[in-house]
Amino acid sequence: MRRNARQAEATKRQVLFPFLLSLFCGAFSQQIRYTIPEEMAKGSLVGTLAKDLGLSVQELPARKFRVSSEEDYFNVSAESGDLLVSGRIDRETICDRKSECALEFETVAENPMNIFHVVVVIQDINDNAPRFVAKSIDLEICESALPGVKFSLDAAQDADVGSNSLKSYTTNPNQHFSVSTKESPDGSKYPELLLEKPLDREQQSSYRLMLIAMDGGNPSLSGTTQIRIQVTDANDNAPVFSQEVYRAILQENVPLGTSVLRVTATDQDEGANAEITYTFLSAPTSASLLFRLNPNTGDITTNGTLDFEQTRRYVLGVEAKDGGVHTAHCNVQIEIIDENDNVPEVTFISFSNQIPEDSDLGTVIALIKVRDQDSGQNGLVICYIQKDLPFKLESTSKNYYKLVIDRALDREETAEYNVTITATDRGKPPLSSSTSITLHIADVNDNAPAFHEASYVVHVAENNPPGASIAQVSASDPDLGPNGHISYSIVATDLEPQALSSYMSVSEQSGVVFAQRAFDHEQLRAFEVTLQARDRGSPALSANVSLRVLVDDCNDNAPRVLYPALGTDGSALFDTVPRAAQPGYLVTKVVAVDADSGHNAWLSYHVLQASEPGLFSLGLRTGEVRTARALGDREAARQRLLVAVRDGGQPSLSATATLHLVFADSLQEALPDLSDRSEPSDSQSELQFYLVVALALISVLFLLAVILAIALRLQRSSSPAARGCFQPGLCSKSEPGVLPNYSEGTLPYSYNLYVASQSAKTELNFLNVTPEMVPPQDLLCDDPSTVVHASNEDNKITYDPSYSSHVSFCQPI
Ligand SMILES: *[C@@H]1O[C@H](CO)[C@@H](O)[C@H](O)[C@H]1NC(C)=O
Ligand SMILES: *[C@@H]1O[C@H](CO)[C@@H](O)[C@H](O)[C@H]1NC(C)=O
Ligand SMILES: *[C@@H]1O[C@H](CO)[C@@H](O)[C@H](O)[C@H]1NC(C)=O
Ligand SMILES: *[C@@H]1O[C@H](CO)[C@@H](O)[C@H](O)[C@H]1NC(C)=O
Repeated sequence: MRRNARQAEATKRQVLFPFLLSLFCGAFSQQIRYTIPEEMAKGSLVGTLAKDLGLSVQELPARKFRVSSEEDYFNVSAESGDLLVSGRIDRETICDRKSECALEFETVAENPMNIFHVVVVIQDINDNAPRFVAKSIDLEICESALPGVKFSLDAAQDADVGSNSLKSYTTNPNQHFSVSTKESPDGSKYPELLLEKPLDREQQSSYRLMLIAMDGGNPSLSGTTQIRIQVTDANDNAPVFSQEVYRAILQENVPLGTSVLRVTATDQDEGANAEITYTFLSAPTSASLLFRLNPNTGDITTNGTLDFEQTRRYVLGVEAKDGGVHTAHCNVQIEIIDENDNVPEVTFISFSNQIPEDSDLGTVIALIKVRDQDSGQNGLVICYIQKDLPFKLESTSKNYYKLVIDRALDREETAEYNVTITATDRGKPPLSSSTSITLHIADVNDNAPAFHEASYVVHVAENNPPGASIAQVSASDPDLGPNGHISYSIVATDLEPQALSSYMSVSEQSGVVFAQRAFDHEQLRAFEVTLQARDRGSPALSANVSLRVLVDDCNDNAPRVLYPALGTDGSALFDTVPRAAQPGYLVTKVVAVDADSGHNAWLSYHVLQASEPGLFSLGLRTGEVRTARALGDREAARQRLLVAVRDGGQPSLSATATLHLVFADSLQEALPDLSDRSEPSDSQSELQFYLVVALALISVLFLLAVILAIALRLQRSSSPAARGCFQPGLCSKSEPGVLPNYSEGTLPYSYNLYVASQSAKTELNFLNVTPEMVPPQDLLCDDPSTVVHASNEDNKITYDPSYSSHVSFCQPI
């Protein structure tokens, strides 16, 4: 502004002076022209003005030669009249940017007044360097800018003109930028920045360049400024994951929300371009629903229960996305580790519930499969059953077992088994489960019926009612159903087989034995049948047992007197007694028999009536009639004794006999007594006849008795169970099938064998044998007249010396 003002002032002066000169002087003298460079020192010579004007030096002071204007810059030397520089001449101040700069002024000389026109051309020198207004230039260039892009920059200023003015711009050498010099339409020169190579903010985010402006002077001057270039981000980078694959190992059943891992992606961009969000690729899937991915941090946590048995490995794709369009992918692999969280399972593939008890060892009963969903040791299962069972588990192949029979089965011992199969895995701690099955053992007819007793003996009182049940046999069979259903039958007997059905029958169902008729002890004392129990199995099994039936005696027979027998005409025989008989003389013997046995046949003799009481004694058991005292003459020659024979039954039965006794030394002497009684004359011969018959009968009976005794002895030794029943009164009302409650050998005697003899006549009067009670051994005595009394209880033989003239020796054969 200042410069422009001055310029305007100077211009005004240049116009004003010629006008004034013409006004006052009326004429212009010649024009003098000098050229000087600017910035000459004060006092420097511009030109020899006076000389050039043709003025003499001497007249100068008189003419007061001087510069009339522009005294600041020039004056005239008074001595020489030279034009000198009187002040600083700055072209840039005076002429600014004009290419031609000249100072025009007048010099005046008086006396005469002359005005001289002087022009001093001022030449430029390079005294100004180019100068930038701003200390630095700030630029922002996007990294995505393409090479060749130009940026115009502010021009530098240079006050000099012409060749001294600003000529070019340069910059310090660098790869990315260059500077060129451009000229604007007004001729000024400005720098232009050219991008030579692509920028990468991520590599270098800023540049500092020196911009140099140079003028054309010699030497040239320069000015500089700084270009500060900031490279701005373009979203040119994709996020990058720190790993391509992330791996994590996780226990199954971890709680919800457990942290698994963190994926991290980075983006070299900045700002929004580097803001990364994470998502599951191809979500949502069942797997990705199990995990939660924090979109901002990349943290993966569980969002559900992980089950190793369902999925052992998860592979998830994760995408990272920046604020723009760039994405990156990575894989997340999550391995699940097994925990022992599954109980082994036992399943039956096949199973037979009913097992025949005769199954072979090794028969397969069930096929079992065990399963554990865990893996490794957690899934290794061992299987076992309780001990003490007749079964065992055999492993067939991995996880398969068969249950087989290990020991023989017996349904009768154990009909069902509860088998508990326990499966345990090898985890820590182990888990186990068990399953129970009930095995039923099916029956096989492997047991024969068995009678409860080895043999049966039953006592039946004779005269039983026909059809009475007399015994019951029972057998049992532990088998089931028809295999244990027993029926009874009679299969053998020692009776006549045809007669059996008239004797016995057995109820097929109950085993009750019935008598089919009334038994008679005197006819049949015992018999034996074989009973069979038979089951209904197939094949059927059976067992035999013997049933011995003992027919017990009842007192149903009265004693029968054999001697003295009545004559055919009703008259009785008589016995003679010598008058000289000593006391105790055996007169005669009453002989009676009883068809019953035991007590019922145990006879006792009683005197009912005597013509002279006390004269004779009667043996209670023997029936022997003896004199009780010596006979006197006073006594009547004929005596009569009424004798009762009673058996031991309850009630007892009895018979009577009448004895006629005659006191006489001989038979002839007695005869008159007898004839007095008008007895038939041939009674003596009749008596003899009876005696002979009795003797023969007794001999036969004795023989029979001996034979029977041998037979019984043999039979008894083979069946010791046989028992006798002699309890009086048991007979008629004896309960069928109930055995009398006394044992063998408790009775006072078992049998009696009486042999009476007259020592003189060696006469056997009577032999009474109870056949059943014959001693077990035969006796052989050297004197047959010996009266033998033996007991079969202990086979001891005793003798009664009173009935024998001497004791003879007997021994068992
Ligand atoms: C010219 O200028 C110089 C310096 O300013 C001065 O010494 C001198 O006296 C001047 N001469 C005239 C004639 O004015
Ligand atoms: C987490 O699980 C719940 C229930 O299964 C489901 O609704 C939800 O979408 C899951 N969240 C994620 C992030 O998967
Ligand atoms: C078997 O188990 C059943 C039911 O638990 C039970 O009634 C039965 O008595 C058991 N049998 C054996 C032989 O333990
Ligand atoms: C039973 O007795 C019958 C007839 O004597 C015979 O055939 C059968 O074999 C016997 N059974 C047994 C098991 O002894």
